[in-house]
Amino acid sequence: MANEKKSFFSHETLEKNIGLMIVCSILVVLFAGLVQIVPLFFQHSTTEAAKGVEPYDPLRLMGRDLYIREGCVGCHSQQVRMLRAEVQRYGSYSVAGESVFDHPFLWGSKRTGPDLARVGERYSDEWHRIHLNNPRNVVPESNMPGYPWLAQNAVQSDNIGDRMRALRLVGVPYTDAQIAAAPEALKGKTEEDAVIAYLQGLGVGYRRGQMQTVPGSK
Ligand code: HEC
Repeated sequence: MANEKKSFFSHETLEKNIGLMIVCSILVVLFAGLVQIVPLFFQHSTTEAAKGVEPYDPLRLMGRDLYIREGCVGCHSQQVRMLRAEVQRYGSYSVAGESVFDHPFLWGSKRTGPDLARVGERYSDEWHRIHLNNPRNVVPESNMPGYPWLAQNAVQSDNIGDRMRALRLVGVPYTDAQIAAAPEALKGKTEEDAVIAYLQGLGVGYRRGQMQTVPGSK
């Protein structure tokens, strides 16, 4: 009706005023985003370690830092998505409680190579040694680069205490005794040992934790 008085917030005002429409849309999306995201900061399933998931021991922690230094995350994700094809290929999908000790997260987004979230104990240490030295010695069609220097370099052990204390500041529960004993655990180890220890642990604690929750299993 032509002479009906329209209120400022009628739908017609909104639909005919693109600026107002954009502002209101942004407000709606922001609010909906908060409703989804804020509860995650308080839910146990996202803030506490999943059963079986432990803080990295010193050797694995150094392996993780080397994984970052060498840029492995640029080609490998560590996040199995909730899709049937992914679960069939890699194993059970990733949950937030697996990553609580990861600072920063290494979920990645590029998969030139396969996802590594479930690679722990899939191959022998010896396989990893050959593969890291020159991937084509075990996978002829591989385009992954070799990392032969890892086997030659001793793993740095003088600042492991600082690394652990820094992680403790952001919530990883290392004890003073664990920090004091850390340099000893790295003695005589190579960078390759550290990377392999890290890889061999990926997904393993979580898998064991899951197995314990099946009735009747140990
Ligand atoms: C340029 C991309 C690229 C980079 C960088 C890279 N990879 Fe790979 N990676 C691949 C590809 C492609 C494959 C699959 C072929 C093969 O097994 O070599 C692979 C396979 C693997 C596998 C075997 C996975 C499986 O399930 O069979 C492991 C373990 C692995 N990479 C570890 C690493 C580590 C550790 C680093 C860093 C030191 C690294 N990769 C860096 C591309 C890459």
